[in-house]
Amino acid sequence: MLKGKNIVLGVTGGIAAYKAGDIASRIVKLNGNVKVIMTENATKFVQPLTFQSITNNYVVKNMFDEPRTWDVEHISLAKEADLFLVAPATANFIGKIANGIADDMLTTTVMATKAKVLIAPAMNTNMYLNPIVQENIAKLKRLGYMFLDPKSGRLACGDVGVGKLEDPDLIVEKVVFEMTKTKELEGKKILVTAGPTREALDPVRYLTNHSSGKMGYAIAYEASRRGAEVVLVSGPTGIKPPANVEFVQIETAQDMYEKVMERSNSDIIIKAAAVADYRPAQKAENKIKKMPGDIVIPMERNKDILFELGKIKSNQILIGFAAETNDVIENAKAKILKKNLDMIVSNNVKLEGAGFKGSTNIVSFIKKDGEIRDLQLMTKENVAKELLDEIILMLKEC
Ligand code: PMT
Repeated sequence: MLKGKNIVLGVTGGIAAYKAGDIASRIVKLNGNVKVIMTENATKFVQPLTFQSITNNYVVKNMFDEPRTWDVEHISLAKEADLFLVAPATANFIGKIANGIADDMLTTTVMATKAKVLIAPAMNTNMYLNPIVQENIAKLKRLGYMFLDPKSGRLACGDVGVGKLEDPDLIVEKVVFEMTKTKELEGKKILVTAGPTREALDPVRYLTNHSSGKMGYAIAYEASRRGAEVVLVSGPTGIKPPANVEFVQIETAQDMYEKVMERSNSDIIIKAAAVADYRPAQKAENKIKKMPGDIVIPMERNKDILFELGKIKSNQILIGFAAETNDVIENAKAKILKKNLDMIVSNNVKLEGAGFKGSTNIVSFIKKDGEIRDLQLMTKENVAKELLDEIILMLKEC
């Protein structure tokens, strides 16, 4: 994925420096070439040998180390970087860069690079919230430096608050995004729905389904990686939304209907969400008590969002999903007609490896002209890639 890409990883002196080893290792596993620059203070937390062993590259620390190449080292590293990642970044490092101070190997190299610079801060909450640090970050953001804001949680010093380094997997996801993004869908607005809806019975119970959101989130990520402006309207899932999409959280089918209709003028709409067709006619004000005998709960229909979108469809691409258990192709074709769709992605949710929850899917793309393309079992990320390729072809044919 990152073959041929040079990522320079700057490590500064904070307790989160130990996580930089994990970050380097993940990038190396994706075939990226990682060169590490450590500040003097970082070497107090982690040994350079750790990074040297992980990356197979010499770790640069001191401006005045014996040079390993005939190039001026900080200039050659600055030039060869496709991306400069600083993780963790201390308040000291951020302050120096924001104020043009280049007094060690890391700051001189960052100052000399023309590559994109991605900074992942980690520090004590009060330091992070200090107006000076905030002003430095705001200034760097204005100047085009990218930031991965820290998380909240329990910090090494015992304080609880914002300041924890973002998760290494999300940092690496952002690196991959920046290194592989394209402009294929630049200028296009894409609306994706994902996850389940929840329909309340009473204050403590609800009706829902097994959708994890993985399929829809993978599509949203892939669409934004290809340069689209993406809005993801999602029911409750445990997944962190992709970094570069506008995220709209909903709970019920009615919420989803409202948020989707507000954005119904998108160029492309992809409805991967599993929306409840029915909701309890009334939400009990108090918890429903156990009583002798059975209970019957009257249900009423939710709006069919895709059907409503199909009614007002203009010059746009409208794609539905179909979770089927029988007569998969026939049912999917009927939905294309009924909901005025351009394409349906049908998954036979009875097949092993397809449908809800898992990380793989088996789908067929069924177009309104009757063309069918059956895909093999693959990861949901790869289904998303195939789907976006298909959409790009459809746009060319328009
Ligand atoms: O989230 P995952 O765990 O990764 O699982 C992925 C998935 C199985 C949920 C996904 O691949 C999928 O099939 N999504 C559609 C599920 C579904 O609700 O299918 P359906 O046949 O009931 O609905 C057909 C289409 O109409 C869907 O695009 C749905 O979003 C839409 N719909 C349905 C009901 C409703 N009231 N409004 C709608 O817009």
